[in-house]
Amino acid sequence: MLKANWIVPSYRSKKVCPLFKKDFSIEKEVASATLSVTARGVYEATLNSHRVGDFIMAPGWTSYHNRLQVQTYDVTELLSEDNVLILELAEGWFWRLKNKLPKAIIAELHIVYTDGIEEYIGTDESWLVAKSNLRFCHLYNGIKYNAALSPVFKYRAKIARDNSQDLLVAQQGEIVKEQERLSVKEIITTPKGETVLDFGQNMTGYLEITVDAKEGDKISFSFAEILDKDGNFYNENYRKAKAIYEYICKNGVQTYKPNLTFYGFRYVRIDSYPTEIKPENFTAIVVHSDMKRTGYIESSDPMLNQLFSNIIWGQKGNFLDIPTDCPQRDERLGWTGDAQVFIRTASYNYNVLRFFKKWLSDVKAEQYENGGVPDFIPSIYPRKPRLSTAWADAIAICPWQCYLTYGDREIIENLFEPVKKWVDYITNTTAKKNLWFDGDHYADWLELGGEYGKCKGPTRDDLVASAYYANSVNILIKMGKVLGYDVSAYEELHKNIRTAFIKEFRDDFKTQTEHVMALQFELTDKPQAVADSLAEMIHKEGDKIQTGFVGTPYILHVLSRYGYKELAYTLLLRKEYPSWLYPISKGATTIWEHWDGIKPNGDIWPASMNSYNHYAYGAVGDWMYGVMAGINTVEDAPGFAKVHFAPVPDDRIDWFKAEIDTAYGKVSSHWWHEDGKVRYEIETPVDSVATIDGKTHELSPGKHIF
Ligand code: BGC
Repeated sequence: MLKANWIVPSYRSKKVCPLFKKDFSIEKEVASATLSVTARGVYEATLNSHRVGDFIMAPGWTSYHNRLQVQTYDVTELLSEDNVLILELAEGWFWRLKNKLPKAIIAELHIVYTDGIEEYIGTDESWLVAKSNLRFCHLYNGIKYNAALSPVFKYRAKIARDNSQDLLVAQQGEIVKEQERLSVKEIITTPKGETVLDFGQNMTGYLEITVDAKEGDKISFSFAEILDKDGNFYNENYRKAKAIYEYICKNGVQTYKPNLTFYGFRYVRIDSYPTEIKPENFTAIVVHSDMKRTGYIESSDPMLNQLFSNIIWGQKGNFLDIPTDCPQRDERLGWTGDAQVFIRTASYNYNVLRFFKKWLSDVKAEQYENGGVPDFIPSIYPRKPRLSTAWADAIAICPWQCYLTYGDREIIENLFEPVKKWVDYITNTTAKKNLWFDGDHYADWLELGGEYGKCKGPTRDDLVASAYYANSVNILIKMGKVLGYDVSAYEELHKNIRTAFIKEFRDDFKTQTEHVMALQFELTDKPQAVADSLAEMIHKEGDKIQTGFVGTPYILHVLSRYGYKELAYTLLLRKEYPSWLYPISKGATTIWEHWDGIKPNGDIWPASMNSYNHYAYGAVGDWMYGVMAGINTVEDAPGFAKVHFAPVPDDRIDWFKAEIDTAYGKVSSHWWHEDGKVRYEIETPVDSVATIDGKTHELSPGKHIF
């Protein structure tokens, strides 16, 4: 509990961001000082002109109507005799909330003197307020900044209407930080005559500028992920997100970067600029959650390497406090389905345990009374309850994957009851016992084979929903067993779902994804026949992938599992549309939302639903780690306490290498072709097992060559 109050400015303008200021003196020697802050909005604190901490977009996005994180910074070193503490506030994600309170801030400086006396300086009516240089700041619509103005602290702070601290919790997630600085790769003059900076990489963050200008000079930019087929600037796919960047200069050399919003972009169009355009005056700053990188993949195939780079950049671009669908258009939401399809890959690429623990706390907080789980989280409350199979199932899949990758038991302890509520919800609402019928689902979202321009393909909703029902019940059983609970009723339920599924769908699957569901979730008695039928269907369709969000993560797994590893490789290595490598032939540096975000003839998918930074199809990364390199977790020794290596090489690739930095040390698998044979080098920090060319070997810690 803080001794401070929530405060708001006393001026009326909602658009101009407020600055809150407190001057104070210190007369004794300080032993330690901490500053605790949070906001209904996003904030930046400066003490004596030094930024406090390096958390960008603090306090992050949680389920604001349930919990709000408080950050506590050590500011001992920033204090002096006379001090000025300034807090800048913008709306950030808070803007999305319906029926929200006005944006507000609460802060408390806690000073402990060397004589043991403590002092608290908290936000209250004594704080002064000014209109900041930030005249406008919006999550989607960008910023307007006037550097020529000098803020005048002529207003007083008011205590906010809702001054309660009930929802405050300590910082739980990984903080968001500036991570990389990218230089301009090229300055392009487009056929239309636009001047465009190309940073060579689609990314999430903001633009820093340095300019020598006169007071009142105007600068403005527009942002885009791609150029159109004629090479002109194109950003209609941002939909209603205006992504404005307008800057009014003061006199002299000045450097500026936005601090309370972000953009998804590769290209920047210079709409107005007062002096010569020099590449060194522009820097793109990449911003994302501060997760530790753990996974690396490299091969002899440059396109595969680019695919892996695109997967990594998809994660960087969309792990900004919550797992988002995309970082650029008027969405940027924590879509549960996207998170669950990508989590295994994500958990190998980076250590995302802390990141997901925080987000799953919000998932738990947002679960509907009846057990349903919203389709994106944090949700915008109150709104009409909306849920879908494969989206809501994130509540089971994400904690279970964190348990497998990191061995963290707490995460499944926390989520066991919510998962139970979720599967009970299906049991209680379905129109057909032991299956899930008649829901309203996204199902195999963006699957091919449907009507052009529509986001849903031909895979049956009821089939996907029933398959995921089985999967979530199965995860519940596994979690329960780890935790020592009696789950026999759910084992019975799982058996019944399986029987009902087989009876209902009779192995008669109409699409690739339908086959994949039955194989991946073991909902057939004749898996080999179903796999054969899938392979035949793929061949008939010209060896082309047709799957959407739910089929894509598993299709290569089921093919390689049932004797079709060549075909799996054929799909992975295919360069023509539709395939994972096709976007690379069109210059992609991140994963696209659609297999055909840009068509072979250069046409662009309808702007209404077309992102070039959507990590979902990057889920193929887990096949690269798990099958190509063959690095697998073992269920009864989670967190890589034991590793099962089962690499699957292919003649079309000369060498392949993957590495994961686990809690036990480095796990790596490398294979290459030599004198007509495949050689393997496997490194494990723990006792492990390797299946190589059908033979099983027990491995002791160390390096092993086969
Ligand atoms: C998002 C998706 C999301 C979907 C729900 C879209 O607008 O961008 O990635 O999962 O809605 O179907």
